[in-house]
Amino acid sequence: MSTNAAFPPYEMTTDAGGFEGIDVEVAGAIAEKLGLELVVDDMGFDAALTAVQTGQSDIAMAGITVTEDRKEVMDFSDSYATGIQVVIVKEDSPIATVDDLANAEMIGCQKATTGYIYCSDTPENGGYGEDHVTAFDTGALAVMALVNGQVDAVVIDNEPAKSFVAENDGLKILDTEFAVEDYAIGLAKGNTALLEAVNAAMADLKADGTFQGIVDKYITAE
Ligand code: ARG
Repeated sequence: MSTNAAFPPYEMTTDAGGFEGIDVEVAGAIAEKLGLELVVDDMGFDAALTAVQTGQSDIAMAGITVTEDRKEVMDFSDSYATGIQVVIVKEDSPIATVDDLANAEMIGCQKATTGYIYCSDTPENGGYGEDHVTAFDTGALAVMALVNGQVDAVVIDNEPAKSFVAENDGLKILDTEFAVEDYAIGLAKGNTALLEAVNAAMADLKADGTFQGIVDKYITAE
């Protein structure tokens, strides 16, 4: 499994040097069902997507949003979660809604993510233009830049956003959502045998409660 373990609560590193998170545990449970051993390979998010396309990994699991462009270069399992792109700002920010993002001097995103792709698009396509978006290697670095005043807002998936806001004083998540997306496991194009096996294993894990048990461990219901 190729991933980018800087995306809580889906994938993160442990103090002991291992990996944990929803994706890591679900992938482990899928592997067990299939009689396989899970090996987690941590890399940049863009590299994690490329790795599965080139056969360096068998699956990519990294809170990956299904998009039409990505579907041209990889296959996706059935979706296993909803992701929402949200906006993080400082508590005293003049940016109060998603519409105010148009006034932001600089927006921070994680490199190669859908947040970056949407925000850096042209204004005609609903974005803010490349000049107004900075790509960081991780979401945590984008949030650090927000804390330091180098960017005015960060656009990122809602679950990592909650965890970054909890870790840093003076930040908040806007109530209005930027985009709603589906997460799925990425596979090499045409790897139908593994795709079907993964979908079947996932369906079993959902039916027997294992999947929900893993989610509940990491995401507490409000
Ligand atoms: N859902 C977003 C996307 O697919 C961000 C995923 C980032 N994942 C990560 N492990 N860093 O573009």
